[in-house]
Amino acid sequence: MLTKALVLLGSPRPRGSSESLARHFMAGAEEGGLPGETICLREKRTLPCTHCGVCERTPHACALAAEDDAEAVLRALEGASLLLVAAPIHFYALPGQLKCLIDRAQSRWARPQDEAARAAVRPTLALLTAGRPRGERLFAGSELCLSYFAQALGRQLTECRGLRGIESPADISLEQAAAMRDWGRQWAARLTVAPSLPGPPGAP
Ligand SMILES: Cc1cc2nc3c(=O)[nH]c(=O)nc-3n(C[C@H](O)[C@H](O)[C@H](O)COP(=O)(O)O)c2cc1C
Repeated sequence: MLTKALVLLGSPRPRGSSESLARHFMAGAEEGGLPGETICLREKRTLPCTHCGVCERTPHACALAAEDDAEAVLRALEGASLLLVAAPIHFYALPGQLKCLIDRAQSRWARPQDEAARAAVRPTLALLTAGRPRGERLFAGSELCLSYFAQALGRQLTECRGLRGIESPADISLEQAAAMRDWGRQWAARLTVAPSLPGPPGAP
């Protein structure tokens, strides 16, 4: 399987802050020899989980799988060597459409044989932007939510970077853009040298 970085753009706003920062990350990753690919969630149809209970029974498939794009997106996220989820904070949480996708991963939790996969360490990064400059727990709920989402996909949330005081791309400093590019380069170096060794939490 080709080693590549998959970026999930979770904002409803085109060309917004999280997308802009994610593109700097991808530019760095590509400079480092790691090809990148994006999935733009707002271009996908993702129905909300209705807790119908179908996925709790064998074969643990979602009853909505044929109705929208969620299943295909979840499969792509499961298969990526490196996953970056980029999203804004909305009301101290993840945006609605991204949360819809996350809830649809319940079909993975419902599969009893997935314990081993849940312990997997395929790296997942989160990049969150928020307009407020303050708020001790501004990113806390979203980080926790993404860590369980990653587990459901057989991945691990390796690192979460939250940038505050960013209402729009115009608020992104040159230093922040450069740091994103650098982050992408570091992960490229890590994965192109030793694709099976994602490294310890918090250290790219
Ligand atoms: C519906 C909505 C809710 C928001 N809630 C918060 C919030 O709770 N805290 C915060 O700091 N910023 C909040 N913001 C501001 C966004 O997080 C901020 O503008 C962010 O940079 C947008 O990223 P994007 O351009 O990638 O969508 C909210 C924005 C919207 C549209």
